[in-house]
Amino acid sequence: MTNSDKDRVVIFDTTLRDGEQSPGATMTHNEKLEIAGLLDEMGVDIIEAGFPIASEGDFQAVSEISKRAETAIICGLARANIKDIDRCWEAVQHAKRPRIHTFIGTSPLHRAIPNLTKDEMADRIHETVTHARNLCDNVQWSPMDATRTEWDYLARVVDIAIKAGASTINIPDTVGYTAPVESADLIARLIAEVPGADEVVFATHCHNDLGMATANALAAVAGGARQIECTINGLGERAGNTALEEVVMAMKVRGDIMPYYTDIDTTKIMHVSRRVATVSGFNVQFNKAIVGKNAFAHESGIHQDGMLKNAETFEIMRPEDVGLTETNIVMGKHSGRAALRSKLSDLGYELADNQLNDVFVRFKELADRKKEVYDEDLIALVTAGEDLENDRLLISSLAVMCGTSGKAKADLVMSIDGQEVSATETGDGPVDATFRAVRALHPNTARLSLYQVHAVTEGTDAQATVTVRLEEDGYVATGQSADTDTVVASAKAYVVALNRLLVRREKVGGSDRREISYKDVS
Ligand code: KIV
Ligand code: ZN
Repeated sequence: MTNSDKDRVVIFDTTLRDGEQSPGATMTHNEKLEIAGLLDEMGVDIIEAGFPIASEGDFQAVSEISKRAETAIICGLARANIKDIDRCWEAVQHAKRPRIHTFIGTSPLHRAIPNLTKDEMADRIHETVTHARNLCDNVQWSPMDATRTEWDYLARVVDIAIKAGASTINIPDTVGYTAPVESADLIARLIAEVPGADEVVFATHCHNDLGMATANALAAVAGGARQIECTINGLGERAGNTALEEVVMAMKVRGDIMPYYTDIDTTKIMHVSRRVATVSGFNVQFNKAIVGKNAFAHESGIHQDGMLKNAETFEIMRPEDVGLTETNIVMGKHSGRAALRSKLSDLGYELADNQLNDVFVRFKELADRKKEVYDEDLIALVTAGEDLENDRLLISSLAVMCGTSGKAKADLVMSIDGQEVSATETGDGPVDATFRAVRALHPNTARLSLYQVHAVTEGTDAQATVTVRLEEDGYVATGQSADTDTVVASAKAYVVALNRLLVRREKVGGSDRREISYKDVS
């Protein structure tokens, strides 16, 4: 496909690379495989699966995703050096359709970091793109911080990359600095003025620092770009990347003024969004476009009245279009296994029999405590029990005393590597006492960088989803858990995050991906 294939826009998802790069969004190996599988199924054209040289974990994930992908092109990121590119190829070569994505920062600020002159950098680009192209037929090249690169130099290096064999030229707005008019003009001018530009695909990669990532990406398409780089829920460094669900739905809903199409099965959006929120620990804000809890909720009387008469009065797209299905099955303590299976399937979860049995037991426990079990409760149930069998640390029981007089006290029993151990600790409130008890049983130096409580549904019997983010020696791990008891959910989330720190330490033997800066080109 080239820029002259006018209507089709390819979707390049970088949730597993740029998205995962946001501090605390680190995913486990299995979670990455699962998300890649979902992206492939939903029709994403290119999955940027990771940055293979950054860590052994990234390398393994990109290799495994490459082996499993059915239709999507699998892409790995590499800086502008031979070692990075070779490592990237080692990982993506297993894919039916591999791609190497190599980049270098071209703006004055970025050129100063490796201390390269313009000519030296131009030579480096020629050498590295040529090397990548000798390994792989499908090469993407990015001038990082393109939107702050001098026009003449940008046009020169794009020309070099095209001549060296790149078939996709990505124009990143690395710091979210551009605006829609400029975004469209930059792509249009590159296509018009760089020789050979009509033989390659131009891509747009926008960050959301000024809240314009979606608008900038769509403007770039109007300017001639035919690949949008984006992430699920807009996950990504700082304010995030362009949100996949926003650009895809914008083109679908406003086809009259944006006559482009993608191959995304939009009915899968909601499920993928929820899974990414859960595994990354980055909850979606309630009023987030397309996938927020309130995106299709109509609160005011006038809106509700209008909706009842004709949904189009206040809805520009149908909830079903993004996979938000409402069924008539109300779940409660009398609901059986078949109803649970059917409800979960509507929510996008196809469980194996043993998984269903496990969720069913926990569903019954919850239904005993809660009159009505909502969709959100079920999702929390399904996702809260994951990975338990591999966990080294488990909460066996917890009893907490707290109130207006004196310190809170937590009696905790845990299983650590199969051994039951117990501790009693006091603290400033029940959560503090509980976390102290966990630390007494599993001493660690992890710093708590986030503790967040989120009511899954309304009512005093609502489940609370608790997110805990820990940092230790440069690692960041996030744990999430849900329970009608906030302190129990907190204890479990804390332990999930500790288990993840343990897994990461075992996997990478103490080295951390952040030791390799992706802004470093040496
Ligand atoms: O934002 C950016 O510039 C990037 C590049 C590595 C493409 O993510
Ligand atoms: Zn980026």
